[in-house]
Amino acid sequence: MMGKITLAVIKPDSVEKGYIGPILFHIVNAGFYIRALKMTDLSKRSAKKFYAEHKESLFFDSLVNFMSSGPIVSILLEKENAVEDFRTLIGDKNPIHAAEGTIRKLYASSLEKNAIHGSDSNQNAFRECLFYFSHREIFW
Ligand code: PPS
Repeated sequence: MMGKITLAVIKPDSVEKGYIGPILFHIVNAGFYIRALKMTDLSKRSAKKFYAEHKESLFFDSLVNFMSSGPIVSILLEKENAVEDFRTLIGDKNPIHAAEGTIRKLYASSLEKNAIHGSDSNQNAFRECLFYFSHREIFW
């Protein structure tokens, strides 16, 4: 499974603007298989845990507040070369720099409200999938 899965999180800005459907359409059209999906509310505590590696960053508190400001949709995706292909599909974290046609270019409004998260390595993908989903949900 390692190398074939990645975690996507549709962030509160996209959920609020009604972009869940268009973003899922984009993801499936790019050849990703949705293995598991859930809509949840992230508590501040959970958001701090999820982004723990960035706790020294100046933007940490703001990011945690944003990610716990409304519902999110976490999605376990499967595809060959999932992590890299998904990062290409979503584009640069800053929508100003994101390539045309990428999810962030289409739906993000700022560096913070950047529409969607994608795991940045196979190791993090596995850890992040286990953050939102059980072993059973991943390996059925
Ligand atoms: S870093 O330190 O910028 O290189 O880290 P990076 O892995 O690129 O980003 C980690 C997550 O933080 C978000 N981010 C920000 N949020 C708010 N304000 C600022 N300035 C900012 N910079 C980065 C970035 O979108 C990443 O969130 P995820 O959920 O992984 O997309």
